[in-house]
Parts: sequence; structure tokens; C-alpha cells
Amino acid sequence: MRHFISIADLDRSQAIEVLATAEHMAETQSRSIRKLPTLLGSTVVNLFFEDSTRTRISFEAAAKRLSADVINFSAKGSSLSKGESLKDTALTLQAMGADAVVVRSASSGAAHQLAHAGWIDQPIINAGDGAHEHPTQAMLDAFTLRRHLRSGDHHGGLDGLHVVIVGDVLHSRVARSNVLLLTLLGARVTLVAPPALVPVGARAWPCEVIYDLDEALAAGPDAVMMLRVQRERMVGGGFFPTEGEYARRYGLSTQRAARLPGHTIVMHPGPMNRGFEIAGDVADSERSVIVEQVASGVFVRMSVLYHLLATDVREDAR
Ligand code: CP
Repeated sequence: MRHFISIADLDRSQAIEVLATAEHMAETQSRSIRKLPTLLGSTVVNLFFEDSTRTRISFEAAAKRLSADVINFSAKGSSLSKGESLKDTALTLQAMGADAVVVRSASSGAAHQLAHAGWIDQPIINAGDGAHEHPTQAMLDAFTLRRHLRSGDHHGGLDGLHVVIVGDVLHSRVARSNVLLLTLLGARVTLVAPPALVPVGARAWPCEVIYDLDEALAAGPDAVMMLRVQRERMVGGGFFPTEGEYARRYGLSTQRAARLPGHTIVMHPGPMNRGFEIAGDVADSERSVIVEQVASGVFVRMSVLYHLLATDVREDAR
């Protein structure tokens, strides 16, 4: 792997290899080996044009646990506010000795452009680009699913599992990356959303699309992944259905969660709108693996950094 831009760039064996390395990273952390020397001497730049809590901090933790240096660059307070272009920002990072760039942007395709425009030679990792993809989020979701629902098989895929993804699919890079990855790993995916929040083209995705949450839950899925309603991306002020109707028809309420099979886990990429797309007591219930998803993010991002950078480091040392 040269870059980590899209799940569509991976085949099944590569995806399983990233998960296997993440398992290895988790094992080292559980044995209290907090810091590995793997990326000593490397510099990872976190280039965030959009706000983030989980992704930015977990990439920083992942890089530091592999002994890399980390430079955090956020759009706020930088020369981007003076109109500096993505190209000039990339050239500046290259001049400062970045060995890998983790980028989050509101623009779909920003990570791809950084990787392929020829401005910068280093590996690029997509930390979320517009409504397009969030590939490391999908990897950490698959990692969490595998740990809970495939215990004893830390080497295979997700064959035979049924995952229901619910909510604002239209604005969700998490949904798109998860549909690609979970089906690549053998799971069946059902998307549930109001018709107005289903992207044009989703019918061509390798999943089922339905509009009735109760129908989807009655099928007894193995996991229910709730999506955040992204009000900030709803330009023009339109929101259909109304917020009250959305919560009633598409919210994971206590009553709905109580009807799920005992083994079904509840997921959310965060940040959550508690009491809207998910009831607070469901988010805090025993079914919920939401906090664990955050912990998985560090292991998966350690794995991605390892796969992109460790070979280069070994070659440089020769
Ligand atoms: N899931 C996720 O991407 O969260 P952040 O926006 O906090 O990084």
C-alpha cells in the first residue's frame, strides 16, 4: 500500500492484513507495551481542515505509540485563513520533512488530490473527505465487529453477519466506507434512511436500501450502526422529515433496542446526537460498543501507519 485513501483500493486479503496487524497492536498494548520503536525518526503530520475529536487524537496516539513525531496542523489559526492553497500547504509540509500526511477535509477527493497531484511524495491517509469516504473509521468498525461477533476467529472476515446502518446516509462518508468494507469482508449490509437522505446512486451499492427501521430491526441483525444526522451539511435549511418525525421513525429508542436479539451490538461512529438518532440509555447500555470503537481506532491507525511507513523506515536504515 502506498496511500490509504479509499476502501475501494483494497482487496479482501489486504483488508484482513490491516485488521490482523491491528490485533497485534492491540495485543502489545494489552501487555502494557505502550510504545513500540517501529517509526522512530518518522514524522506524521495531522492536516485537519475540519473539526475532529476521535480521528485526530487517535492518529496522534497511534503515531506516538509507534515512536513517530507528530505535527498537528489545523485550518484554524493557519495561513489557510489568508487564502493559501492546498498545493502550497502540501509543499510546506513536504519542506518540513513530513513522512506521512493524515488529511481531513470537507471536500470529497481532497486526499486523492494530495496523493496524486504530484505536490508531495509521502503516503497520504484519508481521515474523512466530505461525504465521500472515511476508510480508517470503516476499518475500526470492522475490527470491533470482528472482536464481538467473530470471537475465536481473529483471522477471517465477517462472512454471514448482517449489519444494519441507519440514518443520514446522504452526508455520511462512514456509511459509504462501511458498505464497501463490510461487504468486501463477507457481511450483508442493509441501509435504512428516509428517502431524502439516501444518495442518488446508492441503489448501485452492494447492499439493500430500505426506508422502514422497524422492518430492518425485525430481521434480527447482528449489529445496528446509527449515523449522526449532519445538520451542518444540510445547506439551504431543508430538513425532511422534520426533526420530530425523524427521531420517531429513525431513532434507536429504548423500546426499539429492547426488541433486538440478545447478541446484537449497537454502534455509532460519534459524535452522537443523544436523544435524537439514539437514546442516551441505549448508547450507554451493555449492547453498546461505542466507547470500544474509539479504542479500536488507535489500534487500526497504528496498523495503517505501520503498513504505509514501516517498510520505508526499514529501507532507510539499510
Ligand atoms: N468518527 C469520527 O470521525 O469522529 P471525529 O469527527 O470526532 O473524528
